[in-house]
Amino acid sequence: MKKSPWLVVFAWVVVVAAAAVVGASPAGKLKVGFYQHSCPQAEEIVRNAVRRAVARDAGLAAGLIRMHFHDCFVRGCDGSILINSTPGNKAEKDSVANNPSMRGFDVVDDAKAVVEAHCPRTVSCADVLAFAARDAAYLAGGIEYPVPSGRRDGRVSLSDEVLVNNVPGPTFNVSDLIESFARKGLTADDMVTLSGAHTIGRSHCSSFTQRLYNFSGEAGRTDPAIDPAYAEQLKYRCPPATDDQNDPTTVPLDPVTPTAFDNQYYKNVLAHKVVLHSDQTLLDNPWTAGLVKFHSAVDKVFKVKFAAAMVKMGNVEVLTGDEGEIREKCFAVNKPY
Ligand code: HEM
Ligand SMILES: *[C@@H]1O[C@H](CO)[C@@H](O)[C@H](O)[C@H]1NC(C)=O
Ligand SMILES: *[C@@H]1O[C@H](CO)[C@@H](O)[C@H](O)[C@H]1NC(C)=O
Repeated sequence: MKKSPWLVVFAWVVVVAAAAVVGASPAGKLKVGFYQHSCPQAEEIVRNAVRRAVARDAGLAAGLIRMHFHDCFVRGCDGSILINSTPGNKAEKDSVANNPSMRGFDVVDDAKAVVEAHCPRTVSCADVLAFAARDAAYLAGGIEYPVPSGRRDGRVSLSDEVLVNNVPGPTFNVSDLIESFARKGLTADDMVTLSGAHTIGRSHCSSFTQRLYNFSGEAGRTDPAIDPAYAEQLKYRCPPATDDQNDPTTVPLDPVTPTAFDNQYYKNVLAHKVVLHSDQTLLDNPWTAGLVKFHSAVDKVFKVKFAAAMVKMGNVEVLTGDEGEIREKCFAVNKPY
Protein backbone atom coordinates (compact mmCIF):
# COMPACT_ATOMS: atom_id res chain seq x y z
CA MET A 1 0.00 0.00 0.00
CA LYS A 2 1.18 3.55 -0.78
CA LYS A 3 1.64 5.80 2.23
CA SER A 4 0.74 9.45 1.82
CA PRO A 5 3.61 11.67 3.08
CA TRP A 6 1.39 13.91 5.24
CA LEU A 7 0.05 10.84 7.03
CA VAL A 8 3.54 9.68 7.87
CA VAL A 9 4.55 13.11 9.20
CA PHE A 10 1.37 13.37 11.24
CA ALA A 11 1.92 9.83 12.49
CA TRP A 12 5.32 10.74 13.86
CA VAL A 13 3.91 13.81 15.60
CA VAL A 14 1.48 11.44 17.32
CA VAL A 15 4.32 9.08 18.26
CA VAL A 16 6.18 11.88 20.03
CA ALA A 17 3.04 13.19 21.74
CA ALA A 18 1.90 9.73 22.84
CA ALA A 19 5.41 8.88 24.09
CA ALA A 20 5.27 12.00 26.26
CA VAL A 21 1.91 10.85 27.60
CA VAL A 22 3.22 7.36 28.45
CA GLY A 23 6.33 8.83 30.11
CA ALA A 24 4.53 11.37 32.26
CA SER A 25 1.34 9.44 32.57
CA PRO A 26 -0.97 10.82 35.29
CA ALA A 27 -1.93 7.33 36.34
CA GLY A 28 -4.71 8.29 38.68
CA LYS A 29 -4.17 6.60 42.00
CA LEU A 30 -1.48 4.25 40.70
CA LYS A 31 2.22 5.03 40.62
CA VAL A 32 5.13 3.83 38.49
CA GLY A 33 7.59 2.03 40.78
CA PHE A 34 5.06 1.47 43.58
CA TYR A 35 7.11 -1.52 44.84
CA GLN A 36 10.49 0.22 44.46
CA HIS A 37 11.18 -0.04 48.21
CA SER A 38 8.77 -2.75 49.40
CA CYS A 39 9.68 -5.31 46.71
CA PRO A 40 12.31 -4.00 44.30
CA GLN A 41 12.63 -7.35 42.49
CA ALA A 42 8.92 -7.70 41.76
CA GLU A 43 8.85 -6.52 38.14
CA GLU A 44 12.00 -8.41 37.24
CA ILE A 45 10.61 -11.64 38.69
CA VAL A 46 7.47 -11.26 36.59
CA ARG A 47 9.52 -10.43 33.50
CA ASN A 48 11.59 -13.59 33.95
CA ALA A 49 8.51 -15.76 34.46
CA VAL A 50 6.91 -14.36 31.30
CA ARG A 51 10.15 -14.77 29.37
CA ARG A 52 10.35 -18.46 30.34
CA ALA A 53 6.69 -19.02 29.51
CA VAL A 54 6.80 -17.48 26.03
CA ALA A 55 10.03 -19.31 25.24
CA ARG A 56 8.06 -22.51 25.89
CA ASP A 57 4.88 -21.37 24.13
CA ALA A 58 4.71 -18.07 22.23
CA GLY A 59 0.91 -18.16 22.45
CA LEU A 60 1.07 -17.45 26.18
CA ALA A 61 2.02 -13.83 25.37
CA ALA A 62 -1.36 -13.43 23.68
CA GLY A 63 -3.10 -15.15 26.57
CA LEU A 64 -1.62 -12.77 29.15
CA ILE A 65 -2.53 -9.62 27.22
CA ARG A 66 -6.09 -10.84 26.77
CA MET A 67 -6.29 -11.87 30.44
CA HIS A 68 -5.44 -8.35 31.61
CA PHE A 69 -8.20 -6.97 29.33
CA HIS A 70 -10.80 -9.43 30.62
CA ASP A 71 -9.71 -8.68 34.19
CA CYS A 72 -10.02 -4.90 33.77
CA PHE A 73 -13.46 -5.09 32.14
CA VAL A 74 -15.05 -6.99 35.05
CA ARG A 75 -14.94 -5.13 38.41
CA GLY A 76 -11.88 -3.23 37.22
CA CYS A 77 -8.27 -4.45 37.14
CA ASP A 78 -8.52 -6.27 40.46
CA GLY A 79 -7.24 -9.76 39.61
CA SER A 80 -10.78 -11.16 39.82
CA ILE A 81 -10.26 -13.21 36.63
CA LEU A 82 -7.55 -15.24 38.42
CA ILE A 83 -9.81 -16.67 41.15
CA ASN A 84 -10.89 -20.30 40.88
CA SER A 85 -14.52 -21.32 41.15
CA THR A 86 -15.49 -22.84 44.50
CA PRO A 87 -18.42 -25.12 45.33
CA GLY A 88 -20.80 -22.22 46.02
CA ASN A 89 -19.39 -19.83 43.39
CA LYS A 90 -18.84 -20.02 39.64
CA ALA A 91 -16.03 -17.53 39.05
CA GLU A 92 -15.17 -15.29 36.04
CA LYS A 93 -12.60 -17.84 34.93
CA ASP A 94 -15.40 -20.27 34.11
CA SER A 95 -17.53 -17.89 32.06
CA VAL A 96 -17.85 -18.95 28.39
CA ALA A 97 -15.84 -15.83 27.55
CA ASN A 98 -12.84 -17.34 29.37
CA ASN A 99 -13.27 -21.09 29.55
CA PRO A 100 -11.81 -22.90 27.65
CA SER A 101 -10.18 -20.13 25.56
CA MET A 102 -8.21 -18.17 28.18
CA ARG A 103 -4.61 -19.27 28.66
CA GLY A 104 -1.73 -18.21 30.92
CA PHE A 105 -3.23 -18.62 34.40
CA ASP A 106 -0.29 -20.80 35.46
CA VAL A 107 2.18 -18.16 34.35
CA VAL A 108 0.59 -15.63 36.72
CA ASP A 109 0.31 -18.13 39.58
CA ASP A 110 3.97 -19.15 39.17
CA ALA A 111 5.23 -15.56 38.95
CA LYS A 112 3.24 -14.67 42.05
CA ALA A 113 4.67 -17.65 43.98
CA VAL A 114 8.21 -16.41 43.35
CA VAL A 115 7.26 -12.82 44.21
CA GLU A 116 5.60 -14.08 47.40
CA ALA A 117 8.75 -15.98 48.40
CA HIS A 118 10.73 -12.72 48.19
CA CYS A 119 8.15 -10.27 49.52
CA PRO A 120 5.26 -11.92 51.34
CA ARG A 121 1.83 -10.23 51.11
CA THR A 122 3.18 -7.20 49.34
CA VAL A 123 2.51 -7.36 45.61
CA SER A 124 -1.05 -7.74 44.34
CA CYS A 125 -2.07 -10.28 41.74
CA ALA A 126 -3.75 -7.50 39.78
CA ASP A 127 -0.33 -5.81 39.47
CA VAL A 128 1.45 -9.08 38.61
CA LEU A 129 -1.03 -9.47 35.74
CA ALA A 130 -0.59 -5.86 34.56
CA PHE A 131 3.21 -6.32 34.56
CA ALA A 132 2.90 -9.68 32.79
CA ALA A 133 0.70 -8.20 30.04
CA ARG A 134 3.25 -5.42 29.46
CA ASP A 135 6.10 -7.94 29.35
CA ALA A 136 4.16 -10.18 26.97
CA ALA A 137 3.58 -7.33 24.49
CA TYR A 138 7.20 -6.25 24.77
CA LEU A 139 8.65 -9.75 24.30
CA ALA A 140 6.40 -10.31 21.26
CA GLY A 141 7.81 -7.19 19.59
CA GLY A 142 5.91 -4.25 21.12
CA ILE A 143 7.57 -1.39 22.97
CA GLU A 144 8.40 -1.43 26.63
CA TYR A 145 6.42 0.96 28.83
CA PRO A 146 6.30 1.77 32.55
CA VAL A 147 3.28 0.24 34.30
CA PRO A 148 1.79 2.31 37.12
CA SER A 149 1.06 -0.03 40.02
CA GLY A 150 -0.40 -0.19 43.52
CA ARG A 151 -3.59 -2.05 42.59
CA ARG A 152 -5.26 -4.17 45.27
CA ASP A 153 -6.96 -7.49 44.70
CA GLY A 154 -10.71 -7.93 44.71
CA ARG A 155 -12.44 -10.63 46.72
CA VAL A 156 -15.38 -11.17 44.38
CA SER A 157 -15.42 -13.06 41.08
CA LEU A 158 -18.73 -13.97 39.45
CA SER A 159 -19.07 -15.75 36.13
CA ASP A 160 -22.46 -14.14 35.52
CA GLU A 161 -20.94 -10.65 35.46
CA VAL A 162 -18.50 -11.30 32.61
CA LEU A 163 -20.78 -10.96 29.60
CA VAL A 164 -23.39 -8.58 31.02
CA ASN A 165 -22.28 -5.05 30.08
CA ASN A 166 -18.64 -5.95 30.59
CA VAL A 167 -16.53 -8.11 28.24
CA PRO A 168 -17.57 -7.41 24.61
CA GLY A 169 -18.35 -10.31 22.27
CA PRO A 170 -17.11 -11.12 18.75
CA THR A 171 -20.55 -10.47 17.21
CA PHE A 172 -20.60 -6.85 18.42
CA ASN A 173 -20.90 -4.12 15.78
CA VAL A 174 -18.82 -0.95 15.93
CA SER A 175 -21.48 1.00 17.87
CA ASP A 176 -21.70 -1.81 20.45
CA LEU A 177 -17.90 -1.80 20.77
CA ILE A 178 -17.66 1.96 21.23
CA GLU A 179 -20.38 1.78 23.89
CA SER A 180 -18.71 -1.17 25.64
CA PHE A 181 -15.41 0.68 25.97
CA ALA A 182 -17.11 3.97 26.88
CA ARG A 183 -18.66 2.18 29.84
CA LYS A 184 -15.11 1.68 31.13
CA GLY A 185 -14.11 5.28 30.46
CA LEU A 186 -12.25 4.35 27.26
CA THR A 187 -12.63 6.13 23.92
CA ALA A 188 -13.26 4.80 20.40
CA ASP A 189 -9.57 5.50 19.72
CA ASP A 190 -8.58 3.40 22.75
CA MET A 191 -10.86 0.63 21.47
CA VAL A 192 -9.36 0.61 17.97
CA THR A 193 -5.84 0.81 19.41
CA LEU A 194 -6.33 -2.01 21.92
CA SER A 195 -8.00 -4.20 19.28
CA GLY A 196 -4.55 -4.18 17.69
CA ALA A 197 -3.69 -6.87 20.26
CA HIS A 198 -5.35 -9.18 17.73
CA THR A 199 -2.07 -9.01 15.83
CA ILE A 200 -1.01 -12.07 17.86
CA GLY A 201 -2.78 -15.10 19.26
CA ARG A 202 -5.55 -17.31 18.08
CA SER A 203 -9.29 -17.70 17.87
CA HIS A 204 -11.33 -20.83 18.31
CA CYS A 205 -13.47 -21.56 15.23
CA SER A 206 -16.65 -21.18 17.27
CA SER A 207 -15.98 -17.44 17.64
CA PHE A 208 -16.65 -16.96 13.91
CA THR A 209 -18.32 -20.07 12.36
CA GLN A 210 -21.61 -18.13 12.12
CA ARG A 211 -19.84 -15.81 9.63
CA LEU A 212 -18.84 -18.80 7.50
CA TYR A 213 -22.02 -20.86 7.50
CA ASN A 214 -24.95 -18.89 8.85
CA PHE A 215 -24.36 -15.22 8.14
CA SER A 216 -27.18 -13.06 9.54
CA GLY A 217 -29.08 -16.22 10.39
CA GLU A 218 -29.25 -17.50 6.78
CA ALA A 219 -28.15 -21.13 6.60
CA GLY A 220 -25.33 -21.64 4.08
CA ARG A 221 -24.52 -17.94 3.70
CA THR A 222 -20.98 -16.58 4.17
CA ASP A 223 -20.28 -13.03 5.34
CA PRO A 224 -19.43 -11.11 2.15
CA ALA A 225 -17.08 -8.93 4.23
CA ILE A 226 -14.57 -11.81 4.36
CA ASP A 227 -12.11 -11.98 1.47
CA PRO A 228 -13.43 -14.93 -0.61
CA ALA A 229 -10.14 -16.87 -0.83
CA TYR A 230 -9.57 -16.39 2.90
CA ALA A 231 -13.14 -17.56 3.60
CA GLU A 232 -12.42 -20.78 1.69
CA GLN A 233 -9.28 -21.41 3.78
CA LEU A 234 -11.24 -20.79 6.96
CA LYS A 235 -14.00 -23.23 5.93
CA TYR A 236 -11.38 -25.88 5.28
CA ARG A 237 -9.82 -25.36 8.68
CA CYS A 238 -13.12 -24.85 10.53
CA PRO A 239 -15.80 -27.22 9.19
CA PRO A 240 -19.36 -26.76 10.55
CA ALA A 241 -18.77 -29.23 13.39
CA THR A 242 -16.24 -26.80 14.95
CA ASP A 243 -19.14 -24.46 15.82
CA ASP A 244 -18.87 -25.60 19.42
CA GLN A 245 -17.25 -23.75 22.31
CA ASN A 246 -15.37 -26.87 23.34
CA ASP A 247 -14.00 -27.80 19.93
CA PRO A 248 -10.24 -27.24 20.23
CA THR A 249 -9.61 -26.13 16.62
CA THR A 250 -8.12 -22.64 16.36
CA VAL A 251 -6.78 -20.29 13.68
CA PRO A 252 -4.26 -17.46 14.08
CA LEU A 253 -5.92 -14.05 14.51
CA ASP A 254 -3.22 -12.59 12.25
CA PRO A 255 -2.66 -15.02 9.37
CA VAL A 256 0.33 -13.00 8.04
CA THR A 257 2.62 -12.51 11.09
CA PRO A 258 0.87 -14.62 13.76
CA THR A 259 3.37 -14.21 16.60
CA ALA A 260 4.79 -10.74 15.88
CA PHE A 261 3.41 -7.79 17.81
CA ASP A 262 3.18 -5.35 14.88
CA ASN A 263 0.56 -3.31 12.99
CA GLN A 264 -0.25 -6.15 10.57
CA TYR A 265 -3.67 -6.54 12.22
CA TYR A 266 -4.79 -3.20 10.74
CA LYS A 267 -3.61 -4.24 7.28
CA ASN A 268 -5.63 -7.43 7.70
CA VAL A 269 -8.76 -5.46 8.62
CA LEU A 270 -8.29 -3.34 5.47
CA ALA A 271 -7.75 -6.51 3.40
CA HIS A 272 -10.86 -8.18 4.88
CA LYS A 273 -8.72 -10.97 6.30
CA VAL A 274 -9.85 -11.03 9.93
CA VAL A 275 -11.96 -13.76 11.50
CA LEU A 276 -13.89 -11.78 14.10
CA HIS A 277 -16.84 -9.64 13.05
CA SER A 278 -15.84 -7.27 15.87
CA ASP A 279 -12.58 -6.59 14.01
CA GLN A 280 -14.05 -6.21 10.52
CA THR A 281 -16.75 -3.85 11.79
CA LEU A 282 -14.14 -1.20 12.60
CA LEU A 283 -14.46 -0.20 8.92
CA ASP A 284 -18.20 0.44 9.37
CA ASN A 285 -17.69 3.80 11.03
CA PRO A 286 -15.71 6.58 9.29
CA TRP A 287 -13.83 7.61 12.43
CA THR A 288 -12.74 4.11 13.47
CA ALA A 289 -12.00 3.21 9.82
CA GLY A 290 -9.71 6.26 9.66
CA LEU A 291 -7.88 5.07 12.76
CA VAL A 292 -7.44 1.61 11.23
CA LYS A 293 -5.80 3.20 8.18
CA PHE A 294 -3.71 5.46 10.38
CA HIS A 295 -2.38 2.55 12.46
CA SER A 296 -1.71 0.51 9.33
CA ALA A 297 0.55 3.23 7.95
CA VAL A 298 3.34 3.39 10.57
CA ASP A 299 4.10 0.47 12.89
CA LYS A 300 5.69 2.64 15.59
CA VAL A 301 2.57 4.80 15.86
CA PHE A 302 0.47 1.79 16.71
CA LYS A 303 2.98 0.49 19.25
CA VAL A 304 3.33 3.78 21.11
CA LYS A 305 -0.43 4.36 21.15
CA PHE A 306 -0.97 0.76 22.27
CA ALA A 307 1.33 1.25 25.25
CA ALA A 308 -0.51 4.43 26.28
CA ALA A 309 -3.91 2.73 25.86
CA MET A 310 -2.80 -0.28 27.95
CA VAL A 311 -1.79 2.08 30.77
CA LYS A 312 -5.20 3.74 30.50
CA MET A 313 -7.02 0.40 30.49
CA GLY A 314 -4.91 -0.65 33.48
CA ASN A 315 -6.48 2.17 35.48
CA VAL A 316 -10.08 1.06 35.01
CA GLU A 317 -11.90 0.94 38.37
CA VAL A 318 -8.79 -0.07 40.30
CA LEU A 319 -8.85 -0.77 44.03
CA THR A 320 -6.12 1.08 45.97
CA GLY A 321 -5.10 2.02 49.51
CA ASP A 322 -6.82 -0.30 51.97
CA GLU A 323 -9.50 -1.47 49.55
CA GLY A 324 -9.56 -5.19 48.75
CA GLU A 325 -6.50 -7.21 49.81
CA ILE A 326 -3.11 -8.48 48.69
CA ARG A 327 -3.94 -12.03 47.75
CA GLU A 328 -1.37 -14.62 48.80
CA LYS A 329 -2.27 -16.98 45.98
CA CYS A 330 -3.77 -15.55 42.83
CA PHE A 331 -6.26 -18.38 42.40
CA ALA A 332 -8.02 -17.93 45.76
CA VAL A 333 -9.07 -15.08 48.05
CA ASN A 334 -7.26 -14.95 51.39
CA LYS A 335 -8.70 -16.91 54.28
CA PRO A 336 -9.78 -14.78 57.23
CA TYR A 337 -6.99 -14.66 59.83
C1 HEM B 1 -12.85 -4.86 21.02
C2 HEM B 1 -13.47 -5.88 21.58
C3 HEM B 1 -12.88 -7.25 21.60
C4 HEM B 1 -13.52 -8.40 21.27
C5 HEM B 1 -14.97 -8.53 20.83
C6 HEM B 1 -12.58 -9.47 21.40
C7 HEM B 1 -12.86 -10.80 21.17
C8 HEM B 1 -11.91 -11.80 21.11
C9 HEM B 1 -12.19 -13.16 20.74
C10 HEM B 1 -13.55 -13.73 20.38
C11 HEM B 1 -11.01 -13.82 20.75
C12 HEM B 1 -10.78 -15.28 20.40
C13 HEM B 1 -10.97 -16.15 21.62
C14 HEM B 1 -10.96 -17.60 21.22
O1 HEM B 1 -11.94 -18.00 20.55
O2 HEM B 1 -10.00 -18.31 21.50
C15 HEM B 1 -10.00 -12.90 21.16
C16 HEM B 1 -8.67 -13.21 21.31
C17 HEM B 1 -7.72 -12.33 21.78
N1 HEM B 1 -7.95 -11.02 22.23
FE1 HEM B 1 -9.64 -9.98 21.95
N2 HEM B 1 -11.38 -8.96 21.81
C18 HEM B 1 -11.51 -7.62 21.95
C19 HEM B 1 -10.57 -6.73 22.41
C20 HEM B 1 -9.34 -7.11 22.88
C21 HEM B 1 -8.46 -6.28 23.66
C22 HEM B 1 -8.79 -4.86 24.13
C23 HEM B 1 -7.33 -7.02 23.91
C24 HEM B 1 -6.12 -6.64 24.70
C25 HEM B 1 -5.62 -5.42 24.79
C26 HEM B 1 -7.51 -8.30 23.27
C27 HEM B 1 -6.57 -9.29 23.23
C28 HEM B 1 -6.77 -10.52 22.64
C29 HEM B 1 -5.72 -11.47 22.42
C30 HEM B 1 -4.22 -11.25 22.67
C31 HEM B 1 -6.31 -12.62 21.89
C32 HEM B 1 -5.62 -13.95 21.55
C33 HEM B 1 -5.72 -14.82 22.80
C34 HEM B 1 -4.95 -16.14 22.72
O3 HEM B 1 -4.32 -16.41 21.70
O4 HEM B 1 -4.98 -16.89 23.70
N3 HEM B 1 -8.75 -8.33 22.70
N4 HEM B 1 -10.57 -11.66 21.37
C1 LIG C 1 -25.55 -2.77 16.42
O1 LIG C 1 -26.10 -3.85 17.13
C2 LIG C 1 -27.11 -3.47 18.04
C3 LIG C 1 -27.55 -4.70 18.80
O2 LIG C 1 -26.45 -5.28 19.43
C4 LIG C 1 -28.29 -2.85 17.29
O3 LIG C 1 -29.29 -2.41 18.20
C5 LIG C 1 -27.80 -1.67 16.45
O4 LIG C 1 -28.85 -1.19 15.63
C6 LIG C 1 -26.61 -2.07 15.58
N1 LIG C 1 -26.08 -0.89 14.96
C7 LIG C 1 -25.68 -0.85 13.70
C8 LIG C 1 -25.15 0.45 13.21
O5 LIG C 1 -25.73 -1.83 12.96
C1 LIG D 1 -28.33 -19.63 12.35
O1 LIG D 1 -28.62 -18.37 12.93
C2 LIG D 1 -29.93 -18.26 13.49
C3 LIG D 1 -30.11 -16.82 13.94
O2 LIG D 1 -29.01 -16.35 14.66
C4 LIG D 1 -30.07 -19.27 14.62
O3 LIG D 1 -31.37 -19.20 15.17
C5 LIG D 1 -29.79 -20.68 14.10
O4 LIG D 1 -29.81 -21.60 15.16
C6 LIG D 1 -28.44 -20.72 13.40
N1 LIG D 1 -28.26 -22.01 12.78
C7 LIG D 1 -27.15 -22.74 12.99
C8 LIG D 1 -27.08 -24.02 12.25
O5 LIG D 1 -26.24 -22.37 13.71
